[in-house]
Amino acid sequence: MRLIFLGPPGAGKGTQAELICRDFHIKQLSTGDLLRFHRKEGTELGKKAQEFMDKGELVPDELIIQMIKEELEKPEYKNGYLLDGFPRTIPQAEALDDLLKELGQKLNAVLVLEVPSGELVTRITARRTCKVCGKVYHLVYNPPRVNGICDIDGGELFQRTDDNEETVKNRLAVYESQTKPLVEYYEKKGLTYRIDGIGKIEEIYKKIKEILEKTIE
Ligand code: AP5
Ligand code: MG
Repeated sequence: MRLIFLGPPGAGKGTQAELICRDFHIKQLSTGDLLRFHRKEGTELGKKAQEFMDKGELVPDELIIQMIKEELEKPEYKNGYLLDGFPRTIPQAEALDDLLKELGQKLNAVLVLEVPSGELVTRITARRTCKVCGKVYHLVYNPPRVNGICDIDGGELFQRTDDNEETVKNRLAVYESQTKPLVEYYEKKGLTYRIDGIGKIEEIYKKIKEILEKTIE
C-alpha cells in the first residue's frame, strides 16, 4: 500500500502514521523527520535546510525531490510506504508522479487530516518529541508516563525549534498557500479521503483504518 498524508502542521500526521504503519506493515517517510536527521548529522542538506525550517518556510523543491528519490529507491520501501509531509507543493507532486512512473508504482490513497487552526497552535506548542526514537507526545492530550521521558526507550523529550507560536503562524500560512492546493490536485485523480482530525487519537485512527481497509479490498 502506498499512501500520502496531507494536513496542516500539528494535525496529527506523525501520530496517526505510527499506527497506520504498525497495522499495515508499511514504512513511514516523513520529510520533516528526515530533514531533522540531516541537521543532527550536520550534512550539507541539513545545513541548507536549517534556515528555512527555523523560519517555518519550505525547503526548496529540488533539495526535497532529490532526497525523496534517494530514499524511495531503498529496499525497505518495497512493501509500501506512507509519505508524511511530502509532497507539499505542486512541483513536488508532479515530480512524485514522474518518480512513481519510473518505479512502476501507483498510489492507493491520499488522506487529508482536517483540523481548525486554533487547535493546531495548542497542539504544536505543547508537543514534545523523543530524542532517541522520535515518538511524539503532547503535554496535556498525550503525556508521557514520566515527565520529560519517553515511555518506549527512556529517551529525553525535546521541543522542536520550529514549535514556537511565531513560526507556527508562518507554517500555517505556508500550508494554506502552497500545500492545500494539493487536496484538489489529488481529488481530480480520485484519490482524496478527508478525515475530521478532531477527537481522540484512537477514534481518528478508527476512521482512517476503515477507509484503508476499503481501499485495499
Ligand atoms: P514537518 O516535520 O513535516 O512538520 P509539519 O508539517 O509542520 O507537521 P508536524 O510534524 O508539525 O505535525 P503532525 O501533523 O505530524 O502532527 P503530530 O502528529 O506531531 O516539517 C517541518 C519543516 O520541514 C517544514 O516547516 C519545512 O521547513 C520542512 N519540510 C518538511 N517537508 C518538506 C517538504 N516536503 N518540502 C519542503 N519543506 C519541507 O501532532 C502534533 C501534536 O498534537 C503532538 O503533540 C500530538 O501528541 C498531538 N496530537 C496528535 N493527535 C491529537 C489529537 N487527536 N488530539 C489532541 N492532540 C493530538
Ligand atoms: Mg510530523
